[in-house]
Amino acid sequence: KKYIVEVENFKSDSTEEIEKFRIKFLGKKGILNGFFAEFKNVPNEQKKAFGQTINELKNAAQEKVAALKQDLESKLEERGVYGDLTRPGEKLSIGSRHPISLVKNQIIEIFSNIGFNVSEGPEIEDDWHNFSALNLPEYHPARDMQDTFFIQTNPEEILLRTHTSSVQVRYMEDQKPPIRTISPGRVFRNEAISARSHCIFHQVEGLYIDKDVSFADLKQTLLYFTKQLFGKSKIRLRPSYFPFTEPSAEVDIYWGLETETDYRITKGTGWLEIMGCGMVDPNVLRNCNIDPQEYSGFAFGMGIERIAMLLHQIDDIRLFYENDVRFLKQFKSVL
Ligand code: PHE
Repeated sequence: KKYIVEVENFKSDSTEEIEKFRIKFLGKKGILNGFFAEFKNVPNEQKKAFGQTINELKNAAQEKVAALKQDLESKLEERGVYGDLTRPGEKLSIGSRHPISLVKNQIIEIFSNIGFNVSEGPEIEDDWHNFSALNLPEYHPARDMQDTFFIQTNPEEILLRTHTSSVQVRYMEDQKPPIRTISPGRVFRNEAISARSHCIFHQVEGLYIDKDVSFADLKQTLLYFTKQLFGKSKIRLRPSYFPFTEPSAEVDIYWGLETETDYRITKGTGWLEIMGCGMVDPNVLRNCNIDPQEYSGFAFGMGIERIAMLLHQIDDIRLFYENDVRFLKQFKSVL
């Protein structure tokens, strides 16, 4: 009983003292083993009480040693000293790439496999590269197709690019055909934010210029692309209008149930628009010092968010910009 009191009152924050204490009570020749050895000499009627007491002492001593060691360790850790290096590590969670980056990289990969390189340009553009060179002269009504954020308003010269076609203009000005390039990047439009549209989004636009490039080349490239990305290539080209391409088309992909048992896609089935495209207008080539008698080409452009929403069944574009980890951590890839 006296020893139990001693054990309970013992305090120390020194490794050596704790170890001495441990040896004194729990060591091979310690007090407890002494008592256990004596057990056989205890009269039978006292055995029970004696046994209980030494067990009590043993538990108290073991608990004391463990508690003191634990205290000592956390004190040391506060000072940056780590005692037990064999303890299991704390779990670290690693991040993952943003879904927009993942889909962008997928698109880049698919086009680089057929010889397209990647070109980039500034987000703050001048009127020439975003509009005029693309056959959208001042006061052209088609400028209203893309609500623009102007930075310099008088005259309206400097703006946030509304599409990455501006990069293609820069590329054509700098390089000689043949040209095969895709331009991924962030674009800006003065649009109300909703589940379907945002004032900031991302595009990948493509440009192919060489001798004798035809609409058939465009269509075959799109078929290849949709097959690679979506695993399906049932597409249709709907006549459309863009100032920088002639003829122009809108590309729809058939997004139906693959089999009768494929219930993954519950809404948004049928023909869905995924991009715009067309043969580069001769005026655009001329503006960029390429002779339309010698060269022709095609261009296309798509919104990465839209593609990502289709691929991953995301129904609200705003999720991409809120950075809610519950959303982000569902995209595990770090490539
Ligand atoms: N620049 C167009 C847009 O942003 C897309 C497009 C690119 C259409 C190339 C045709 C050809 O809407």
